Amino acid sequence: MLVERLGLELPIAQAGLGGGLAGAELAAAVARAGGLGTVAILPPARMGAELRRARDLAPGRPIAANLLMPFTRPAHLEHVIEAGVAAVVLFFGFDAELVRRLRKAGIFVLHQVGNPAQARRALADGADGLIAQGLQAGGHLLAEQDTWDFLPAAIEIADGRPVLAAGGIHDATGVARASAAGAAGVVCGTRFLLTTECAAHPLYKRRVLAAARTVETLLFGLGWAARHRVVENAATARWCARRDAGPRAIEWVNRRTEPLARHMPLAALPLAPRTQRLALPLYSPAPAIAGMADRAVDVTPLYAGECAVAIDEVIGAEQAVAVLARGL
Ligand SMILES: Cc1cc2nc3c(=O)[nH]c(=O)nc-3n(C[C@H](O)[C@H](O)[C@H](O)COP(=O)(O)O)c2cc1C
Repeated sequence: MLVERLGLELPIAQAGLGGGLAGAELAAAVARAGGLGTVAILPPARMGAELRRARDLAPGRPIAANLLMPFTRPAHLEHVIEAGVAAVVLFFGFDAELVRRLRKAGIFVLHQVGNPAQARRALADGADGLIAQGLQAGGHLLAEQDTWDFLPAAIEIADGRPVLAAGGIHDATGVARASAAGAAGVVCGTRFLLTTECAAHPLYKRRVLAAARTVETLLFGLGWAARHRVVENAATARWCARRDAGPRAIEWVNRRTEPLARHMPLAALPLAPRTQRLALPLYSPAPAIAGMADRAVDVTPLYAGECAVAIDEVIGAEQAVAVLARGL
């Protein structure tokens, strides 16, 4: 149903990886391989241009746009619609009017959720389908349960609408398990972070490949005080040794900065890592992107899911899709 509705070959989606990690190259490579490639959120006009570039790089293939609600501005709607995306994935907030307008434009709306109440709310807002996020997931977390516990609950709530599984799926075994459990597809973030087309700083990718564990923290929460899963670096070693979440005082400061961040231009976010220092734990959610100074990887969030421990090489995104597809 999902595959036919979106014109996909495979029910395999690449998660929007924010902060510039997932741009046109990654989304288009996934789309060319038959999956759902996703351009992550950028300032509105730049996002429109990046989506059009993705469509040019993968002619005739559906492309999705990911809107992180705390950073979504009114102008995103027109740019996303004009770019002709097949689907929009919403995460971390609700806006029934946005859902209505996207659907009116013929766009399929998927809402990533982390608990039953959010699942019900997303469907009440009119979402066409859900992404059930489990605690194994990398990046920001709404999840409260293991992927395999939450997935059946979300499927029941969705009552026939498609539910995709997210969190810990990186190979054919995970895909097979998700389809056996009734998922309409899978959403993978960490697997696509570790691809050649992903714009993460090369040292960020290397740290994730070498990781022995991940940490769920609040440390990189300046302007967005939400839980996120990362691989350890100098910042987490210094500030999360006693408490994974990080110092309570910093949590307090981060929460106070949230209203300010909602009015800040999105374009300012990638500038933050330049000013971040190990000695001062005021860390924005912006990740280290290729081209930034090497020192950035020790003062920025190395977002990754628990499956980072099991992935041992960076591969092309088309190959990643092929590996996952063996589980179908
Ligand atoms: C590096 C990274 C960045 C992420 N950024 C976003 C984002 O911008 N928007 C979003 O909806 N989800 C984001 N996520 C979460 C994914 O949507 C998804 O829940 C998660 O990747 C699934 O778990 P996995 O990493 O084990 O595959 C991110 C995940 C990772 C690993």
